[in-house]
Amino acid sequence: VDLLIPLDRALSAPLRDQLYSGLRLAILDGRLTTGSRLPASRTLAVTLGISRFTVDDAYTRLIGDGYLFTRHGSGTFVAFAHQSNPESGRESQSDPDRDSNRGWSKWSDRVTAATRATTPSHFRYSFTQGVPALDPFPFALWRRCQAHAGQELTPDLYGYGSARGYQPLRQAIQTYLARSRMLRTSVDQIVITSGAQQALDVVFRLFVDPGDAIVIEEPSYPTARNLMTAAGARLIPIGVDGDGLKSDELTQVREPAKLIYVTPSHQFPTGGVLPLNRRRMLLEWARSTGTLIVEDDYDSEFRYGQRPIEALAALDESLPGPGSVIYLGTFSKVLFPAVRLGYVVLPPDLVDRFLAAKALTDRHPPTIEQATVAKFIQAGHFERHMARMRRIYASRQIAMLTALDRYFGGSAHRDAASTAAGLHMLVNFDVDYDEAEMMRRATLASILIEPASPCYLSPPARTGALLGYAVMNEADIDQGIKALAKSLLS
Ligand SMILES: Cc1ncc(COP(=O)(O)O)c(C=O)c1O
Repeated sequence: VDLLIPLDRALSAPLRDQLYSGLRLAILDGRLTTGSRLPASRTLAVTLGISRFTVDDAYTRLIGDGYLFTRHGSGTFVAFAHQSNPESGRESQSDPDRDSNRGWSKWSDRVTAATRATTPSHFRYSFTQGVPALDPFPFALWRRCQAHAGQELTPDLYGYGSARGYQPLRQAIQTYLARSRMLRTSVDQIVITSGAQQALDVVFRLFVDPGDAIVIEEPSYPTARNLMTAAGARLIPIGVDGDGLKSDELTQVREPAKLIYVTPSHQFPTGGVLPLNRRRMLLEWARSTGTLIVEDDYDSEFRYGQRPIEALAALDESLPGPGSVIYLGTFSKVLFPAVRLGYVVLPPDLVDRFLAAKALTDRHPPTIEQATVAKFIQAGHFERHMARMRRIYASRQIAMLTALDRYFGGSAHRDAASTAAGLHMLVNFDVDYDEAEMMRRATLASILIEPASPCYLSPPARTGALLGYAVMNEADIDQGIKALAKSLLS
C-alpha cells in the first residue's frame, strides 16, 4: 500500500512517536484495512525521508499492541481493523490533517505521542497486570457502606467540599498508615486524590517546567513516565537490580533534578524491595541535592511471607529537616480501580500549593465515594478484605510459579525478588525471536500478556512479559501458562 503519514520535525514529539501515532490512526480510521500489507520498513523510510530504525521502532510497538503482525519472510500486516461505531459519529472520524488544524498545544502533542492504545480484543486467558481480582470483592458490604454513608451525610456535605478530601477518610488513612506502613503523619499532610495518577499530575505541574529533569528507575511504570513526558520533563534513568534502585549510582547524576520517582516497596515492574542501606543512600542524595522523592507505594499491601517494611516516607519523617518524600497511595489494587481514589502524604510546606493546584483543577473527588471508603475502613471490612485477598493472591502466585516451572522448564526466567509482593511478575523467555513475535504468538493463542518493553526507556536486551496472576483462578493459570508455553516454545 502507498502510505503517507504526516511527520513534522518542528514538533517536540520524536518522529518515531509521530509515526507510531499516525500509523495507529490509519488503522483505527480504516485507511489501513485488516490483512493489508505494510511497506517494508526500508521502503517506508525512504518514502518518508526518515531512518529505517524509526520505522522499525514504530512497527515493533504496533505489533506489541496487537495492531500489526509479521509473517516470517512475507512482511508486516494489519492485524485488525477498527469497526467504526455508527453511534459514535464524529468522534470516530479523527484524521491527522484535521487534528493539525485545531491549534493543539505542545502538551497535547506530547500526550498523544506518549499514549498507547489498549489492546483491542478478548482473550481466553488473561494475564493482565495492574488490576485486582474483582469477583471476590464483597460488593454487598460495599453497597451497605454506600447506603450508610448516604444516610449520614448532612445536607451541607452535598455542596462543594474541601480540596483536602473528606475528613473522616483522611483520618482513617492516617490511622492505617501509622499501623501498617509505620508512617506517622498529621492529617493535615494527607490529601485525597483521584487515584495516584492525579497526585502525580499535580506534583509534576507544581515542580516540572518543560526541560526540567526527573530521575526515574529503569525500567519503571510507563503511565507515570508518560505523564512526565507530557509535562516536558527530561528523564534520567538509573538502573535497578534484584534489590530495586541502584542508589549508589545516583552520585553519577551530573545535573540538578527536580524529582526522583521511585517504587521502593515493590519495584515496578521487576519486584525488588529496596533495602535499608539503599533507602538511606537515596534519602541522603535527595537531601544533599535538594531533589524531592516521589514514593509510589502502589501495591505493597500484598506482601507474601515477609514482614511489611516501613514506607520510605516513614524513614524520612524520622530525620530532621523539612521532609523530602511525597508519598502516594492508591485504592485501585486494595479495593478496585473504578473507585478512582488515592491519597498523597506531603511534606508540610508543600500542602498549600498542592491544595491550590488541586482545587483549581478538579476541586475534590465525589464526597459520597470518599465517605463509602471511610465507612468500609472504619467497619473493618478493608483490612479483612486485604487479608483475604493476600491469601488468594499468594495461592495464585504459587500456581503461576508452579506452572512456569512445569511447562517452561528452564526457559522462563524471573528475578528471585519478583515474588515478594504485588500482583504480577516480570518473566524473560529463552527464545530467539523478539517481543513483537512473542506478542503475535500469544495473541494468536488468545492469551493476554503485557510486553515488558514499554517499561523501559532503552529497549531491553531480552524478550519478556509482565504476567499478572490476580484475575484468574489457579486452574486457569495452570492451563493458561501451559498454552503460553506451547505457543512461545514451539
Ligand atoms: C506503579 C503504579 N503506580 C500507581 C498505580 C495506580 O494508579 P491509580 O491510583 O491512578 O489507579 C498503578 C496501577 O496500575 C501502578 O501500577
